Amino acid sequence: MFSTLSAASLALLASSPLVSAKCQKYVDAAVTAAANLQSTYFTNGGYGSQQPWIGAVDSFHLTELDDLAGISTYSDVINTVFTAWEGQLDNGNSYDDVQWVSIAYLRAGNLAQAQKYYDIASTAVSTDYYGGGLFWNGNHDYKNAITNELYITTSGYLYDVTKNGQYLTNLQTTWSWLKASGMMGSNGLFNDGLSNVNGVCSNNQGTQWTYNQGALLPGLAYLYKYTNDESAITSAWAIMDAIIMGMTVNGGLREPCESTTANACNADHQTFKGITVHYMSWFLSVSGRDNGSKYSGFIMAQADKVQQFAVGPAGFYSNLWYDSNAGAATWTASSQASALGALVAAGQQTC
Ligand SMILES: *[C@@H]1O[C@H](CO)[C@@H](O)[C@H](O)[C@H]1NC(C)=O
Repeated sequence: MFSTLSAASLALLASSPLVSAKCQKYVDAAVTAAANLQSTYFTNGGYGSQQPWIGAVDSFHLTELDDLAGISTYSDVINTVFTAWEGQLDNGNSYDDVQWVSIAYLRAGNLAQAQKYYDIASTAVSTDYYGGGLFWNGNHDYKNAITNELYITTSGYLYDVTKNGQYLTNLQTTWSWLKASGMMGSNGLFNDGLSNVNGVCSNNQGTQWTYNQGALLPGLAYLYKYTNDESAITSAWAIMDAIIMGMTVNGGLREPCESTTANACNADHQTFKGITVHYMSWFLSVSGRDNGSKYSGFIMAQADKVQQFAVGPAGFYSNLWYDSNAGAATWTASSQASALGALVAAGQQTC
């Protein structure tokens, strides 16, 4: 039987986060949420005015759902979503954005495109400003959490697929630098980035967004998988504990810009929670290291909160996961995709 597997399908298997668990009630809800996302918000290969990096995140959620639900409904989304944006991505000097795109392509089995966008990000690696890490954008004047955390995860994922040692080295170098950079606050959560006052590096006390805590978790799982470094697990658990402790209300994730009465979150912000929950699931599937069922339980609880609080028309979800809406909830392509991320992640757990 194995001889009938083509090289292409083997490559696809190798690039999968390899999810085996399945909690069907969440898979069913994710299938509906995805159908609504695509039928309502996806036109002409894009999601309205939404930034292309969010389209990459959406594509990642949808590709994972395809595998989880045993369908191939969304396998072509990746091939249309960047058509209009390729020039901007290639030349925009946005070194976090191109990494979301790299991950989406790799998850869809397109290694060449994944490497192309990873290589663009790699041009941002510099010892200027605090000795290492990646600059956020082409101005080369800011080093932040998301760009560097994504590089840890993208490098780990590319190493997993290619076994090219340079990727593992890049992961380790960037993680060592990030750990020592001071970007993590005293509450165990990463702030937005570093400030540069007269050449002195310090935590800028910028907003602690949820995705600043989630984006590096898969990278830490790959570090553990390939080096047996137990401290990668300790670090990931500590970060997830800090999320649970510091970023939830009523057990549901809350983005710092959220309240029940007034929305201060833009389309980017509304995307973050779904990434964080889905990347927690990615961490668990690669590392195999939950603490009992602590983190898988948290992931499923987020899907429950989405279905309890982020409700609207059936199968459509707002950005507010942690309490009843009192005027602030907003239903957008971003909030829908973020809920989808949580539902897919929950569908990847054992229930
Ligand atoms: C595992 O989770 C339990 C329950 O929350 C906690 O008490 C314990 O400290 C955790 N273990 C580690 C090593 O974090």
